[in-house]
Amino acid sequence: MKNIVLFGGAFDPIHNGHINMALEASTQLDADIFFIPARISIWKSQSAPIEDKLQMVELAIKNYPKLHLSRYEADSKEEVNYSIDTVKYFKKEYPDSNLYYLIGTDHVNSFHKWKDAKELSKLAKIVYFKRPDMVVDINNVKEFDMVEINGELKDESSTEIRELKSLDTPDKVIDYIINNRLYFMKKIASYMSEKRLVHTISTAKLSYEIALANNLKDAKKALIAALLHDIGKEMPMTEQKEIMKKHFKEYINYPPVIYHQFIGAYLVEKDFGITDPIILDAIKYHTTANSNMSDVAIIVHCADKIEPTRGFESQNLINGLKSSLINGFVEVLKSNVEYYVRHNIDYKNDLQMACLNQYLK
Ligand SMILES: [Fe+2]
Ligand SMILES: [Fe+2]
Repeated sequence: MKNIVLFGGAFDPIHNGHINMALEASTQLDADIFFIPARISIWKSQSAPIEDKLQMVELAIKNYPKLHLSRYEADSKEEVNYSIDTVKYFKKEYPDSNLYYLIGTDHVNSFHKWKDAKELSKLAKIVYFKRPDMVVDINNVKEFDMVEINGELKDESSTEIRELKSLDTPDKVIDYIINNRLYFMKKIASYMSEKRLVHTISTAKLSYEIALANNLKDAKKALIAALLHDIGKEMPMTEQKEIMKKHFKEYINYPPVIYHQFIGAYLVEKDFGITDPIILDAIKYHTTANSNMSDVAIIVHCADKIEPTRGFESQNLINGLKSSLINGFVEVLKSNVEYYVRHNIDYKNDLQMACLNQYLK
């Protein structure tokens, strides 16, 4: 390796911004990039264990031959990992390579406070991405002979992913988070039984598959809405009634089993701070459906009804939704009605009828 960029960080979790930065640095400096996840967590309880962070980086960079994972800081027994030690380690391992050390703009301005800053900047050339919202301390840039590289560093994404406000990370990482119940999955799990969580995950995975098969630009919104669709379901009925009286009076005479769709939307906004109307509406009408539904709402409604753990043969309906969302939706509605009639379920509420009148005419 001729040129090596050391890219340290929390990677809690890794996101597309990190990968784009690494690829950008790799191209501009003609370099191999080492991701070096930090062992210490800054966000403590919201954080993922270091082994999970390493796994997620590995999954995310798998298809890029110039991107690598280093366990150096993760495996370190020191109480604190200083960058100078990491740089010295790489210097020893790769004596013939040019080393670069990648930092964020905020670190440019505090770099003089780092341990052995001068020595560090001699062993590895300091490179940074400019951030449009931050002023760079030009004294530090000169003093430590730093190089700016083009491109933009997005710092907020890891927090947004932990809170389920965005899922801007490779699909393999999303799968890992869901399957290992990290970050937002821990919070979602706190609203429901294991059985409902399994149904939730299955609904979410199917929703995302259907959205991708239909090339939906809002595919991630379908995934987020599906992950959250049933968080109101296990709230005690007395509490559900209170919230219905206060916030959804117009639906108070609906069968109580339907309340949870409104409660869910209410909780998602209140507890998760998610305000996207596409996501909220998909949750708010996931049981009854409605007229004029978004693609995301159609997907969540259908996936909820036919996801495989429900235990009936739904593969034809799934295939139908994947080849054409709207035709598949009509088939799901027909099978819903058949089911209601067969089981003597009263389905003729205004929302449901508005949906059937529009889409089944
Ligand atoms: Fe539900
Ligand atoms: Fe559900």
